[in-house]
Amino acid sequence: MSAGRPPAAADSPLNVPPTFASTYTAGGDLEYGRFGNPTWSAFEEALGALEGGTCRVFASGLAATAAVLDQVPTGGTVVVLEHGYLGTHTQLARLEERGLLRRVLVDALDPEAILAAAAGASLVWIESPTNPALEVVDIAAISRAAHAAGALMVVDNTFATPILQQPLDLGADVVVHSATKFIAGHSDVVMGAVVSRDEQLLARVTAYRSIQGATPGPMEVFLALRGLRTLALRVERAQSNAQQLVERLTGNVALADIRYPGFGAIVSLVLPDAATADRFVASVRLARHATSLGSVETTLERRRRWPGEAPTIPEGLVRVSVGIEHVDDLFDDLCSALGSTLDGAVGGAGGGAGSGAPY
Ligand SMILES: Cc1ncc(COP(=O)(O)O)c(C=O)c1O
Repeated sequence: MSAGRPPAAADSPLNVPPTFASTYTAGGDLEYGRFGNPTWSAFEEALGALEGGTCRVFASGLAATAAVLDQVPTGGTVVVLEHGYLGTHTQLARLEERGLLRRVLVDALDPEAILAAAAGASLVWIESPTNPALEVVDIAAISRAAHAAGALMVVDNTFATPILQQPLDLGADVVVHSATKFIAGHSDVVMGAVVSRDEQLLARVTAYRSIQGATPGPMEVFLALRGLRTLALRVERAQSNAQQLVERLTGNVALADIRYPGFGAIVSLVLPDAATADRFVASVRLARHATSLGSVETTLERRRRWPGEAPTIPEGLVRVSVGIEHVDDLFDDLCSALGSTLDGAVGGAGGGAGSGAPY
């Protein structure tokens, strides 16, 4: 993919460098660092090409989320799946507390309920697969129902990435990304993005970005664009690892359940209870006990360690973000950590919550 590269010319760099500028000589399109940046434009061209729309970068996935939720008219109804990223639910709850919108929570596994709720909505917010339950919903059918109601259809495509799923082609109006995850892919960047084909909406979220100051640093965008160049390879390898691990771990006596939608690199392993799951995450050696996901390294965490995670998520559910390590090494690591939960051995750091923030 050449999108986002400078035009080929003798001695031109192959990649757009990070431009560190808070201001620009007057008279052009950029003017000031909060309004635009050449490194942003290169990333936006590349992710826009992958999602099939026009992209705007944001300071984080949650900054992108806030820009999109700002489009809801005062008192409007937002339909959202019960299982979804905790930070998105927290933003919605705070807006509801202030009387700015009404939330309707629906079960991802009840398509009739989603379609019925969409009929009265101003905005429908979908994650598919959902975080961390890994349920999959029919984006095309929900988009049709949302549009029939005149609602904006938004898909958080962080888990699937544009390599596996292109929501705008399925009928969605807006795609949101935590570029922190698979897109940047190396656990060294916090960044977000909005992609859409709706010019008026893009103008509004761009104005939101400028005026709320929801802007990413040029170095972050440079690193995310570098990550984006290997997204397809990383997703291919991580997905293949995940599929093999699910196959090999099926029937493991330490596990109560394995949740995997059949695609992507996120697998939820369900252990019998919180204490056993905490012993498991404390016993891995190659994988790392850490929040977040979508990186080259395998990370895992018990999601209910965060206060505020949906009570319908099992206490013993450990979300594993499978990386690109050798699958045999990963299998050995997970197997031996699962085995240690059976004989009660504990190693490494404990599994308690960190700051208590809604990660
Ligand atoms: C599905 C999903 N959406 C959005 C976010 C928020 O992104 P960020 O942490 O970049 O603000 C996250 C973060 O974990 C996420 O998992």
